[in-house]
Amino acid sequence: MKNIDSTGHVTGKSLYLDDLPLRQDTLFGVVVDSEIAHGHILSFDASEAKNYPGVVRILTAKDIPGENQIGGIIADEGLFAEDSVHFIGQPIALILATSERAAREARQKVKIEYKKLRAITEPREAAAKGEYLLPPKTFASGNPEKQWDKCEYIFTGSTEQAGQEHLYLETQGAYSYPLETENLMVHSSTQSPTAAQRTIAKVLGLPMHRIQVDVVRLGGGFGGKEDQATAWAVMSSLGAYLLNKPVKVVLSRHDDLRMTGKRHPYSSDFKIGFSKDLKILAYEVEYFQNGGAANDLSPAITERTLFHTTNAYYIPHVKATVHSCKTNLPPNTAFRGFGGPQGMFVIESAIAQAAMELGVPSSVIQEKNFIKENDVFYYGQVAKNVNVQKVWNAAHKEYGFTKKQKAIEQFNQKNTLHKKGWAFMPIAFGISFTNTSMNQARALVHIYSDGSVGVSTGAIEMGQGVNTKMLQVAEQTFGISPDRIKLESTNTTRVSNTSPTAASSGADLNGKALQVACTAILRRLKSLASDLFKVPASKIQIKDELVFANGKKTGWNWEKLVYEAFMQRINLTESGHYATPIIHFDKEAGKGHPFAYHVYGLAFYEVTVDVIRGTYEIDEVDVIHDFGKSMNPIIDLGQVEGALVQGIGYTTMEELAYDNEGRLLSNSLSTYKVPDIYAVPAVIRVKPLKTGGHSLAIFKSKAVGEPPLMYGLGAYFAIQNAVRAFNSDFRKFDAPITPEKVLMGLYQKKEKTVQPSPKTAKANASK
Ligand code: MTE
Ligand code: HPA
Ligand code: MOS
Repeated sequence: MKNIDSTGHVTGKSLYLDDLPLRQDTLFGVVVDSEIAHGHILSFDASEAKNYPGVVRILTAKDIPGENQIGGIIADEGLFAEDSVHFIGQPIALILATSERAAREARQKVKIEYKKLRAITEPREAAAKGEYLLPPKTFASGNPEKQWDKCEYIFTGSTEQAGQEHLYLETQGAYSYPLETENLMVHSSTQSPTAAQRTIAKVLGLPMHRIQVDVVRLGGGFGGKEDQATAWAVMSSLGAYLLNKPVKVVLSRHDDLRMTGKRHPYSSDFKIGFSKDLKILAYEVEYFQNGGAANDLSPAITERTLFHTTNAYYIPHVKATVHSCKTNLPPNTAFRGFGGPQGMFVIESAIAQAAMELGVPSSVIQEKNFIKENDVFYYGQVAKNVNVQKVWNAAHKEYGFTKKQKAIEQFNQKNTLHKKGWAFMPIAFGISFTNTSMNQARALVHIYSDGSVGVSTGAIEMGQGVNTKMLQVAEQTFGISPDRIKLESTNTTRVSNTSPTAASSGADLNGKALQVACTAILRRLKSLASDLFKVPASKIQIKDELVFANGKKTGWNWEKLVYEAFMQRINLTESGHYATPIIHFDKEAGKGHPFAYHVYGLAFYEVTVDVIRGTYEIDEVDVIHDFGKSMNPIIDLGQVEGALVQGIGYTTMEELAYDNEGRLLSNSLSTYKVPDIYAVPAVIRVKPLKTGGHSLAIFKSKAVGEPPLMYGLGAYFAIQNAVRAFNSDFRKFDAPITPEKVLMGLYQKKEKTVQPSPKTAKANASK
């Protein structure tokens, strides 16, 4: 089935927040934000702005009837700053005016005096000053300390990874209006309608049931609207509540880029030890996470980094620590992969570093260390249904890499102006929210008396095709035509207490809940048919809208059966609930079984670097991906391709730049480069791994939203290898590897060897 949204998207008929017809008297909100990254507010003078034509009111922290608090996990973030500010872009006030333009112009008239304090933008600097968002978090198994002595080779090194801007096409926004008796209707572009509802209630001092949040679809979220859509929903609701008028707050692109958090930059140090036959015996890593000015989702992202510290490898002795550092940047937040890419980049760098020192390709080390069936992930989960070696073997069989690698070698011998490089990127990504309690969902199904069906779930459609998958679940469970089924908007009054649509588990969790609801109604319909046709219910089947008894046509169809059920006063509405079984995790011990299953895959890259210009092309990416048994191959292929390219952007070109006052310099698309059509690899081949799928995945179709983003890391190592084919002194791990960095790398002299030789490293370690 093709994506049910595709026609609407292409013809422009799909509705987004900004398409909602406005109610009379709608006011428009523009946010006044901090101009400095760190300091005290000495005075706030809005008198001129207040008198600006069209301005109706200016709201600050003083106007909040409930709590000035929007922190999702930890209560450390005000809706509006009170007396100190912690990042450029931090909201201080909301100007409400009769037009957006008036509000925007009035913003220029607000005068704020600050006492500036020193801004910190780098996590290592924050750590040196003891500025943390959280105490350090460590997961460990075995005892690396005791292993160094036994290692034949030991390598240490450091890595840098920049952040990433989400660049959803639809900027953040919300539209709220009062309903009667202190009830509010809120349209929000959010992945977390319940988080918006909960936080609006808290800030307004109302119970949650007074707030109804409704979402039709998002123009992209990518994690950027998991937590950070909330603030704007709260602001529009605060305005609507206090003024008893509709209020719309939609960020301009510039405001959005400046005010919202991004993927967390990380600076990391590793130490890795090998046996003589290149088995990884021990691995120690310290991550310095750039958390920004408040926690936001950092505690959960920290955990996912720890869970993906060993990527697709089995390592018996591991110690990994995340220092979540407080800096004067907007609070960094969820972004496709959710801390996973950061963990994986460091282990892949450690392997690449070892490979360089030992003069073997990384792939030799990668293959020797893949996690196998019944190995234990270092956080305690026993690896079951492991497909790492399987994807590796399938990829080699399908794509014949040995030939390609030879051809690349020959190319490099012949060519002086261009050099090629290759790399493999294996992935093992855990599916489930790392916070066990979030792995639940609900769905609501109505069958109307004419046989048409309305489906509500907690899932948010953001381009990933979850609504199409939900429709498939209902259609296949009932055995009816998809034309009969309508996917309703996601609404907190119809489906309550939703988890965000995130962690790639939107389709699994909501699909399973929907399956529960549909199955319950179907059971009632079958029992009716069983009475009508005098056969056991187990012998009743509905297929292609027709009712069969004992495998024979009954002459009845879906419509007739549904109408009869209605006439016999049978309940045609059901709510389903699903909670992922098996999973559990002891956060204190850092042990348990946090994931329903893992998604596996492998990407191979071939790239060409121009050694005069430092520019590069990705010639080809060959992927074997573990879709399980894909329930929608078109959508799933789109997810793999989209995530892959987003991952390539992350590791090769998207470079956030700040000045040392913490001001975002890359604040437009002319200074922040995202992959365009020319940056997309000339060839992307994606083939499915042939497997039976996993029963905890909806219809055995594995979650696909985030895992393939991490294929993008392979682009870094392939380009690095191409540079090294020209200058083997280049060995930095500093993502993104932009053309500028490539050019510098091509001609850089060998840095003073930070790397002790294996033997001295061993001697040092034993001292
Ligand atoms: N695909 C599109 N087109 N737009 C998006 O915003 N978000 C990604 C992924 N794919 C996203 C996307 C992220 S971060 C997640 S967690 C999943 O979709 C969420 O949806 P799912 O759980 O239904 O896969
Ligand atoms: N992934 C994505 N989003 C989340 C998670 C997670 O594991 N936990 C909380 N929000
Ligand atoms: Mo996705 S980062 O879990 O929204």
